[in-house]
Amino acid sequence: MVLPGTNIDLFGEVRIRTIKSLLFVALCLPAAFMLFELFTGRLVEPVDELTHGTGQWALRLLLVTLAITPLRKVTGWNKLIRLRRMLGLFAFAYMIMHFSVYLVLDRFFFWPEIVADLTERTYIIAGFTCLILCVPLAATSTDGMMRRLGGRNWQRLHRLAYPAAVAAVLHFVWLVKADLVEPLVYAAILALLLGWRLRHSGHRRAHKPKPRSTAIIGQG
Ligand code: HEM
Repeated sequence: MVLPGTNIDLFGEVRIRTIKSLLFVALCLPAAFMLFELFTGRLVEPVDELTHGTGQWALRLLLVTLAITPLRKVTGWNKLIRLRRMLGLFAFAYMIMHFSVYLVLDRFFFWPEIVADLTERTYIIAGFTCLILCVPLAATSTDGMMRRLGGRNWQRLHRLAYPAAVAAVLHFVWLVKADLVEPLVYAAILALLLGWRLRHSGHRRAHKPKPRSTAIIGQG
C-alpha cells in the first residue's frame, strides 16, 4: 500500500522495521547466552568456549554482512540494504568481545606475551589485521560520517570489509590444527562472495558509466 501523496510503501516499511527489531534481538542472543552460561557456571572451559563462540559469531556476521548486496540483487528486495549497517556493527561488536576475551581472560593483559603473539603467530596477526581493518568501517558507519566523507570516498573505504573477511578466514584456517572442514566452509562462502563481487563490478564497469553504491556498512 502506497501512502497518498508520497511514494512510501507502508507495508514494506512496517515489514523491514519489524525484521530490523527482531534481528536486533536475535543478534544479542548469542552474547546473552554466553554470559548466562558463564555466570551460571555451565562452561567447562570458559576461556576457550568464549573465545570460540565470539570468534564464530564475528566471522558469521561479517560474511552475512557481505552477503546482503548479492541477496538484494537476487531477491530484488532492495530494503534488505537497511539491515546491513546493523549486521556489520554486530560483527564488529563480537570481534571486540572476542579480542577482549583474549586480552583479559586469556592473556591477563600480559603485554610481553601479547606482543610476542602479535609478531610471531601468523593466525593472531591475521585476526588482528581483520580487527584493525574493521575499525574505520565501524567509526564511519553513521549517516553523518558518510556525508562528511562524501559518498564515493565512503564507499571506497567500506570495501575494506573484503580484505578484512579474507584476514578473518585466514585466521581461522591457520589456527586449526587438525580438522579443516569448518574453516574451509567459511573460505568457500567467502570465495563465492568475492567471485560475485568481482563479476558484478566487471559487469557494472562495462555497462554503466557511473558506479552505484557498493558500501558495506550503512544506509540503515
Ligand atoms: C587481535 C585479534 C584476534 C585475536 C588475538 C584472536 C585470537 C583468537 C584465539 C586465541 C583463538 C583460539 C585459538 C585456538 O583455539 O587455538 C581464536 C579463534 C577464533 N577466532 Fe580469533 N582472534 C582475533 C580476531 C578475530 C577476528 C577479527 C575474527 C572474526 C572476524 C576471529 C574469529 C575467530 C574464529 C572463527 C575462531 C575459531 C573459533 C573456533 O575454534 O570455533 N578472530 N582467535
